[in-house]
Amino acid sequence: MRLQLSTWQEIEQYLQRATGVVIPVGSTEQHGPNGLIGTDAICPETIAHALGEREDILVGPTLSIGMAQHHMGFPGTITLRPGTLIALIRDTVESLVTHGFTHILFVNGHGGNIATLQTAFADIQTTRSFGGVAGEVQLGLHNWFLGARARRLANELYGAAEGAHATPSEVSLSWYAWPEAVKRVPLEPEVAPAAAGFGDARDFRRRYPDGRMGSNPGLACVEHGRRLLEAGIEDALEAWQQLLRR
Ligand code: NI
Repeated sequence: MRLQLSTWQEIEQYLQRATGVVIPVGSTEQHGPNGLIGTDAICPETIAHALGEREDILVGPTLSIGMAQHHMGFPGTITLRPGTLIALIRDTVESLVTHGFTHILFVNGHGGNIATLQTAFADIQTTRSFGGVAGEVQLGLHNWFLGARARRLANELYGAAEGAHATPSEVSLSWYAWPEAVKRVPLEPEVAPAAAGFGDARDFRRRYPDGRMGSNPGLACVEHGRRLLEAGIEDALEAWQQLLRR
């Protein structure tokens, strides 16, 4: 069930039977020569929508802009500052809590978001601990690409060529979601330079000239995306059930 495609009456009815909600969170950033700029938002959104349909779970709007300053050397990337993402998460959570939601699972598609999302959770709970905010809320973070089943499958399909950014697994999943956007372009070298840290956007582009980090997304295909989606749904469902037990 999708919040964006529901009426307020339907949300009121949902709240009679459940008080949990899933929010996909991603990034808008370059993903190398054959990866879509929306990859990090498309992947968690695709998993969350499929989970929501299968299990009668409400899925909110995708927060599709995140922490991408290091990709700003490549056109099309849009980034927030950490403080902006923290404020966005805080206001999203407090809005949902106001309506009676008690469990919120963020399904994340971007490693660069993790530290800031955890800081946002700490900020929210600190405010609540200081008092003056009614209603308890349990917050969960599920990074789909770190899920046990998704990782096992990515390792089986790509081994070390999975790399750290613009990976064949995320490219496959985004292509499965949007087959009309599949890009067939040569990659040179096949496997990009391995990840070895970075500073700002200039430094990142110097180290990783085509935007990939240690990956060979030339191995990506739509069929792999279908399998990764199935693994991703199971991982996300497990994270959801764990959150509801808290
Ligand atoms: Ni990515």
